[in-house]
Amino acid sequence: MTGKKFLFIGPIVQTIKNKSAKVELQIIEDAGVLVQDGQILEVFKKPEVSDIEADVVTKLDKGQFLVPGFIDCHVHAVQLPNIGLGYDKSLLDWLEAHTFPLELKYSDNEFADKVFDFVVKRTLSLGTTTACYFASLYNEASLILAKKAAKYHQRAFVGKLNMDRARDDNYYENKSLSIANTRKFIEDIYALKCSLVSPIITPRFALSCTMELLKELGKIAEEYNLHIQSHISENIGEIAECKLLFPDCPTYTEVYEKAKLLTSKTVLAHGVYLEDSELKILNNRKSAIIHCPSSNTNLKSGLCDIQRLRSNQITVGLGTDVAGGNNLCILDVMRSALQVSNHIGFMKDKSYKSINYVDVFYLATLGGAEALSIDDKVGNLVAGKKFDALVIDLNAEDSPVDNLKSFSLEDQLQRFIYSGDDRNIINVYVEGHKVK
Ligand code: GUN
Ligand code: ZN
Repeated sequence: MTGKKFLFIGPIVQTIKNKSAKVELQIIEDAGVLVQDGQILEVFKKPEVSDIEADVVTKLDKGQFLVPGFIDCHVHAVQLPNIGLGYDKSLLDWLEAHTFPLELKYSDNEFADKVFDFVVKRTLSLGTTTACYFASLYNEASLILAKKAAKYHQRAFVGKLNMDRARDDNYYENKSLSIANTRKFIEDIYALKCSLVSPIITPRFALSCTMELLKELGKIAEEYNLHIQSHISENIGEIAECKLLFPDCPTYTEVYEKAKLLTSKTVLAHGVYLEDSELKILNNRKSAIIHCPSSNTNLKSGLCDIQRLRSNQITVGLGTDVAGGNNLCILDVMRSALQVSNHIGFMKDKSYKSINYVDVFYLATLGGAEALSIDDKVGNLVAGKKFDALVIDLNAEDSPVDNLKSFSLEDQLQRFIYSGDDRNIINVYVEGHKVK
C-alpha cells in the first residue's frame, strides 16, 4: 500500500468555508480525488483519468457520491449496553441507577473487550471515522478501547475517566491514584505508536472531581499538549449541585476556567444552560461545545439553542452521547439536532432561523473537526487532508430511501440525512484505509 496512488472518481458533496469564513455546501459533480499514504494529494474537477498518474482507480457507480467521514465528538463507549434504558429518569438519577452500576463492570477486561470490539466496528460501519471516546475509570479497560480503535483503524481520542469524589460504591479513585493512572494511560497510548489514536484528558464532570484534581489535570494537559473533554451545564439539578460544591465559582464554566482546563483543544458536552458570561469565557478560550440533542431529549435535560452558541462564535460539534443518546449513529443525531432546532423555533418569534440540513451536515463533518481542532487533517476532502470519506448510495440494497425518480445531488444529500441509514453508507475510508 505504501507509496501507491489511489484515484477515486465520482461526485463529492461536502461543506467548505468560503473566503469570509461562511459555511457553504460544495458539490463537485465530476471529481477525482488522488490519495497517497492516506493523504489527499489533489482534488480534480472534471478529471481526464488517462492524464492522472495512479496505481489504482476506483470509479463510483452511477448514483453514488463521496462525503467526508462523520465525527462523533462525544460518545461513552462503556455505556453501549445501556442504550435505550432508563430514559424515564433525568441525568443525576439515571447516572446512579443505570450508568455507574454498568461502568463498574469494566474491571472485567473480557467484558470490556466484548463491548469495545462491538462499539468500534459498529461506529465505523455507521460512518464514524473519528470518535472522541469517554472510556473507563479503569486503565486496562481504557487501553483495550484504544487498541480496538488502532486494530480496526478508527481515528479516535480515548479518555481514561477521572473521578476523585468518594462514593459508597467505590466507583472513584483518590486524587493521587487518578493522576498517576492518567500519566500511565498517556504513556501506554503513546506506546501503541498508532498515529490515529490519541489520549484525551477526561475529568468526568465538575460534580465527580475536586478542584485539586481538576487543577492537576489542567497541568497534565498543558505538559503533554493534550485535548481535554468533559460535560458542562447539562441539567438544572447538576448546575445547582455544582454551585454547592464550588461556592467560589459563580458559574459552571468558572470551575473549569479556574482549573485551567479551557483551551482551544477542550470539548465540553451539552452546554444547555450556559449564561452569557460563560459564552464569553468559552469564546476567549476557543473551547468548543458538543451538541448532544438526542441525549438532551432522552434525559429531559433541555433544549440547547446552538444558534445562540454559534452567534456567540462558539465552535459546535455533534455527539451521540451514548447511552444518554439512544443510537451510535451520527445521522440520527443530525436528525435530532434538526428537530430540536425546529422545536426551539416554535417558541421564538418569526425572525429566529432554525438550522437546516447543510448546518447539520457541516456539524457532523467540518464543524466536528473544528471543534476538535483537527480541521487541518479532516472534515472535508481537500488537498493536504487525510482521506476520511464515505461512499453514499441511495440505490444500495435494502435502502430505506426509495429512488423511483432522479434527484439532484443536493436533494440526495437531504434525503440521506433525513431518511437514510447505514445501508446507504456502502464504503468507509479512514486515512485511505477501506474499513467498510
Ligand atoms: N455527566 C456526567 N457523566 C455523564 C454521563 O455519563 N452522561 C451524560 N449524559 N452526562 C454526564
Ligand atoms: Zn456524555
